[in-house]
Amino acid sequence: MSTILVSGVGALGGWALEFLARAPGVERVVTVKRSPWSGPSWTTIAMLGSAIEGHTKQFEHRQVDLADESAMARLLAEVRPDAIVHSATVQSPRILSGAALDPGLRAEVRAATFGMWLPWQLWPAAQLTRAVEASGIDTHVVNASFPDVVNVAIWRRFGHGPSTGAGNLEVCAARVLRYAMAITGRPAAEIDVSLVGSHALLTRGAVVPHNFRLTVDGADATEQVDLTAALSSWPETINWHGEIPNSLYAGSAVKNALALLGSEPLRTHVSSPMGLPGGYPAIVGSGTVQLRLPPTLDEAEAVAINDRAARFDGIERITDDGTVVYTAESRAAMENLGYRCEAVEFDDLARRRDELREVYRRLTSEGQDA
Ligand SMILES: NC(=O)c1ccc[n+]([C@@H]2O[C@H](COP(=O)([O-])OP(=O)(O)OC[C@H]3O[C@@H](n4cnc5c(N)ncnc54)[C@H](OP(=O)(O)O)[C@@H]3O)[C@@H](O)[C@H]2O)c1
Repeated sequence: MSTILVSGVGALGGWALEFLARAPGVERVVTVKRSPWSGPSWTTIAMLGSAIEGHTKQFEHRQVDLADESAMARLLAEVRPDAIVHSATVQSPRILSGAALDPGLRAEVRAATFGMWLPWQLWPAAQLTRAVEASGIDTHVVNASFPDVVNVAIWRRFGHGPSTGAGNLEVCAARVLRYAMAITGRPAAEIDVSLVGSHALLTRGAVVPHNFRLTVDGADATEQVDLTAALSSWPETINWHGEIPNSLYAGSAVKNALALLGSEPLRTHVSSPMGLPGGYPAIVGSGTVQLRLPPTLDEAEAVAINDRAARFDGIERITDDGTVVYTAESRAAMENLGYRCEAVEFDDLARRRDELREVYRRLTSEGQDA
């Protein structure tokens, strides 16, 4: 029986809380949120939902700001979670995607790529990592906040970090599985999907470097699947905006946390396991994540694919000390928006976080003036 801490109870963390409330094997759920609003209410609703399903788990909510490293470390030392589902972020990408920007400005923001906002995701994850270090506890962090890049930077900076990420490639793998089931007419148990790919594969589709292999009953059936179709509007167009799609990412995070704590090996896909860039097919269980690559692909080749794919998120490379260097194209696009940044460095992270708040304020006020 396990204790799971949910760090960040917003759109994604709220879904994670609901799934944990209903999951067998979880005895205690502790939620952490910065502001006093909605955390106690959401946690109480989850407690009642768990009771409806016959569970008698413990629920607690704590108001902690990850900026206060020692308060977070004290909380961790007291709660001693077996796993942490982390999705805290300075500001959700949903806010920007829903902001009223004129189409020209929106195109410029897109050109600057998702990676522009990395400090908003990297800063809370770095704070959590420091707090885990200071608390001296042994736990598994499953990070859903841009794990493809954040986990890599954290591992390189601290020498340890999240056991896995969540979402992104796993959503692609789920789409491909359902597509393959539909076109082959075979059940999931006979189909093996193997995808290596990154966050950008989910947002930009099959133009992003990836490796894909599909077997049906052990025989190669890769050619039967049109990956572009499987990752686009099949079977219906998905509205990715709003809070509903967070059920996918949260479900993936909870699945990873429970698999890490369980003893039954789970064949799945994971984003950024043990600090590797991008996502991979893997086996998760008994506290470990092992890559499950196809025989034709070794780990170095898989990592190289995801390093190339990171450029679609504006990331040129991540150095050995965790500095995230932007591509020339994304640097130029960010400069167009009045934000000059060649690389995100850990020692400068808080300044970058605040600078981006100013950039965001300016962009959205320009958008409203238009
Ligand atoms: N991996 C995937 O597939 C995937 C897909 C979609 C989104 N995401 C990522 O998931 C993350 C969360 O997105 P969301 O839409 O759920 O955001 P959200 O609704 O804004 O939730 C963020 C949560 O983080 C908390 N938080 C922020 N700063 C904090 C701090 N200093 N200390 C403690 N808690 C803090 C917020 O608490 P307060 O409200 O109290 O400030 C809030 O509960 C983002 O990084 C997003 O990019 C990942």
